Amino acid sequence: MKIIDIYARIKKDLNYLEKELLKSVHSDHPELRETSSHLLKAGGKRLRPVFVLLAGQFGDYDLDKLKYIAIPMELIHMASLVHDDVIDDADTRRGQLTVKSKWDNRIAMYTGDYIFAKAIGVATQLSNPTIHQIMSKAIVELCIGEMEQIRYFFHTGQTLRNYLLRIKRKTALLIAISCQLGAIASGVPETISNRLYLYGYNVGMAFQIRDDLLDITGTEKELGKPPGSDVKQGNITLPILCALREDKLRAPLLEELNRIRAAEGQTDVSRFLDIVRGSEGVRQAEELASRYIDRAIQALGPLPEIQAKKDLIRVAHFVGNRSY
Ligand code: FPP
Ligand code: MG
Ligand code: MG
Repeated sequence: MKIIDIYARIKKDLNYLEKELLKSVHSDHPELRETSSHLLKAGGKRLRPVFVLLAGQFGDYDLDKLKYIAIPMELIHMASLVHDDVIDDADTRRGQLTVKSKWDNRIAMYTGDYIFAKAIGVATQLSNPTIHQIMSKAIVELCIGEMEQIRYFFHTGQTLRNYLLRIKRKTALLIAISCQLGAIASGVPETISNRLYLYGYNVGMAFQIRDDLLDITGTEKELGKPPGSDVKQGNITLPILCALREDKLRAPLLEELNRIRAAEGQTDVSRFLDIVRGSEGVRQAEELASRYIDRAIQALGPLPEIQAKKDLIRVAHFVGNRSY
């Protein structure tokens, strides 16, 4: 099942947002226009706008208001990915050339800054400082998450807590606030917007754990980029952390990690991936991801039984079974 089948009900509004998204990054500068539209056309699941729209249905749903949340959330996400691909030296994303490889690092950095600035411009169309503050705080956390990731590169002694805090910052918070802000913009009571935040946080945690798993278990065709990209950069993800706890695997894994580190990631990582794939780490990470999905669904428990609630549950299951 494709995610588009799940949100058929909001397809019309999503199509409208897609057009608005393209308009929002319009520039008279030819290169910025090209890089931004390349990014938009490279696709994406538009998960954050989906969360904004579904959460908005718990209150007075007004697409003209919600677009000032949905568009910036997607733009912030896109800006962070253009920068991320520079930092991670990634040539492809979703099977398409990244801005940094189609153009260069400098162009990618400015494209990210430009899109980020556009996000702020759109968000300020809503004169609600609480919304702006929530967005600002989440972006600050996003940056801290990325800084922490660098600090923990190849750090095999890190705790599960270090990992979870990092993925909370780099992924879960943006999804959490997409839900929360969609609800706030629709004037729902705080108890409901807080529940939606909690739902988004748990879905976001599961999403990143799945993403980290896929980097180990997926193929280049499925991922749109070669597997093992995380470890090549030194990013020790959950399945790796769990596998390192297995007595028999610890020594060969440490040996592989030292080798990969010494080669600065410019080496074949298939042996490393084989060891992790054969470990309990994969199953343990899958288990934790599904626990987060359960918690996400539980968070929705007391919410009114509207169609959006059923849709959010389906999106949660979709994220939990993610195999793309
Ligand atoms: C992808 O993670 C990266 C992120 C989720 C966040 C990147 C954030 C920044 C670069 C800082 C913030 C910048 C702005 C403009 C707001 P990944 O590299 O693990 O995953 P991938 O497989 O998608 O590359
Ligand atoms: Mg990264
Ligand atoms: Mg990356």
